[in-house]
Amino acid sequence: MRKPLVMGNWKLNGTKDSVKALVTALLDSANKASPKADVAVCAPAVFIGMVENLAQGSSLKWGSEDCDIHTQGAYTGENSPVMLREFGCTYAIVGHSERRDYHKESSEYVAQKYKCAQENGLIPVLCVGESEKEFDEGKTMDVIREELKAVIDLCGIKSFEKAVIAYEPIWAIGTGKTATPEIAQKVHSDIRAYLASFDADVASKVQILYGGSCNAKTAPALFAQPDIDGGLVGGASLKAPDFSAIIEAAVANA
Ligand code: 13P
Repeated sequence: MRKPLVMGNWKLNGTKDSVKALVTALLDSANKASPKADVAVCAPAVFIGMVENLAQGSSLKWGSEDCDIHTQGAYTGENSPVMLREFGCTYAIVGHSERRDYHKESSEYVAQKYKCAQENGLIPVLCVGESEKEFDEGKTMDVIREELKAVIDLCGIKSFEKAVIAYEPIWAIGTGKTATPEIAQKVHSDIRAYLASFDADVASKVQILYGGSCNAKTAPALFAQPDIDGGLVGGASLKAPDFSAIIEAAVANA
């Protein structure tokens, strides 16, 4: 059985005060959920030390929104997976569509991030997903297969034993347009089938999260789908009551 995972992606949001209030408010929800569902928040790097101090000793896990392909050296502005581990991170999101798009990160480059994160003890959360145009043209799985294949080529299929996948249709991110549970389920099941063509056991065990306007209203029906193992949540993860409701939806479907 796959344990559900609900993960917040704060993106470029937060202040010291809001981070303190949000994390403090989430501890109880995460502790209550923990026998049935894992809960994590991925924060801007400057806040990770604060999150560590606030969440230490609780069931709430935390991670980064990105990481570099190097562990140290002359790479101005980057964050090393080794440093992120030192601050207690469990996860590192890699290949979010906002980074693929605004920072021109290729699938091969994302695969290097995934590799560096994993080799240094972080669980990479590999984001995959298609644009609205690609969706309309029926190219969803062509895009996703290319994104997954880059990782399989570099790290091998077994690497997914220690990774999470997030399906994030770009057209649903921050738009309020959620993929219907049926559309999302079909893509999740296609992702699992593609991975199963390399290794059925790995495919059956990997957690596949849904992201893209996942909120307190949409989460219950999404999480009820057999191949949806939780959510990667943007906007709704910034409000404790909304995020807690999403956590409860994951627990209810565990
Ligand atoms: P929203 O939940 O704000 O649509 O963002 C989704 C996302 O990009 C999570 O990584």
